[in-house]
Amino acid sequence: MAPIIELKHIGKSFMVKRGIFSEKKEIKVLDDVNLTIEEGEVLALVGESGCGKTTTAKIIAGIHKPTKGEFLYRGKNVWEMNKEEFERYRRAVQLIHQDPYASLNPTMRVFDTIKAPLLRHKIVEKRKVYDKVLELLEMVDLNPPEEYAFKYPHQLSGGERQRVTIARALTVGPEFIVADEPVSMLDVSIRLSIIELLKDLREKMGVGFLFVTHDLAMAKYFALEGKTAVMYLGKVVEYGNTRDVIDNPLHPYTQVLLKAIPEADPEVTRKKEMPKLRSLDVPSFLNLPKGCRFHTRCPLYMEGFCNKKEPKLRQVSSTRKVSCWLYHDEEGNVKEEAFKGVL
Ligand SMILES: Nc1ncnc2c1ncn2[C@@H]1O[C@H](COP(=O)(O)OP(=O)(O)O)[C@@H](O)[C@H]1O
Ligand SMILES: [Mg+2]
Repeated sequence: MAPIIELKHIGKSFMVKRGIFSEKKEIKVLDDVNLTIEEGEVLALVGESGCGKTTTAKIIAGIHKPTKGEFLYRGKNVWEMNKEEFERYRRAVQLIHQDPYASLNPTMRVFDTIKAPLLRHKIVEKRKVYDKVLELLEMVDLNPPEEYAFKYPHQLSGGERQRVTIARALTVGPEFIVADEPVSMLDVSIRLSIIELLKDLREKMGVGFLFVTHDLAMAKYFALEGKTAVMYLGKVVEYGNTRDVIDNPLHPYTQVLLKAIPEADPEVTRKKEMPKLRSLDVPSFLNLPKGCRFHTRCPLYMEGFCNKKEPKLRQVSSTRKVSCWLYHDEEGNVKEEAFKGVL
């Protein structure tokens, strides 16, 4: 059976203008992104702000059309689907946005927000809509549901709004959920309860997830039994089982991300040996470094090598892929010596 989601050599460019007199320039935000997500699987997509996570999420949600490559849903190219197939895909894949303030219509009560897709997709008969809305609100722990149903977004907290957007995503019985930094705009104190809710729904419904986050600790929490892909400047630089990627990161960038997670105990954080980035500046998409994109910052940079050729994402063990000259050569042959006591 075909995987539920497949990105094959995906590229995405935008035309941008810097200043009113300058010409439009093309920025290649995603470059040769390859990802496969199996039925019911969770994939965490991790990377710092601006690296292309939302662009990837929007391609999977069918909002952005890739400029290169193919995006397949259950083995079918989404942009070559007929109307009926595309409708079915759009129902099956639901997006939860980062910003619960912008994603709800301020003039619509919760009831109407959730009612709309139920009727549009003929999920329940008109006379059963009220009960269905209450059932969905209960599922996302908005209790008592009959009270929440008649509130407007401005009467809700950020956490409650995010629960409403989750309930709206659930109306159509999704098969795959794209959650784009679903808690990053919420108060720290309520983040965990939303993550718990999503985890709970995932376990009950068995839906697959793309869980986007800039925080490797959050990826570990949400996708420990799943996969993790680490993205740097529009490329996937490491991919593997979340457990392995976190316990034993291979790419220097993943190592830097991991070491940057603060421990609750400041003493422990102080004692952690931080790999020294060569530069704190993130290069711009308009002026990408030659060779490996990470070489300008990489603590393990090899002069005359990393700045010459760009490494591809290569399979370096049965479960791990990495794009780094430390682990493979140009043909993709694995450098065994790099793995002594590592894999
Ligand atoms: N519609 C757009 N037009 C022009 N540039 C865009 C557009 N969307 C995203 N970008 C640029 O693409 C890069 C990646 O953005 P994004 O995917 O939102 O990153 P992330 O979600 O990882 O923070 C950024 O440099 C951003 O400015
Ligand atoms: Mg984003």
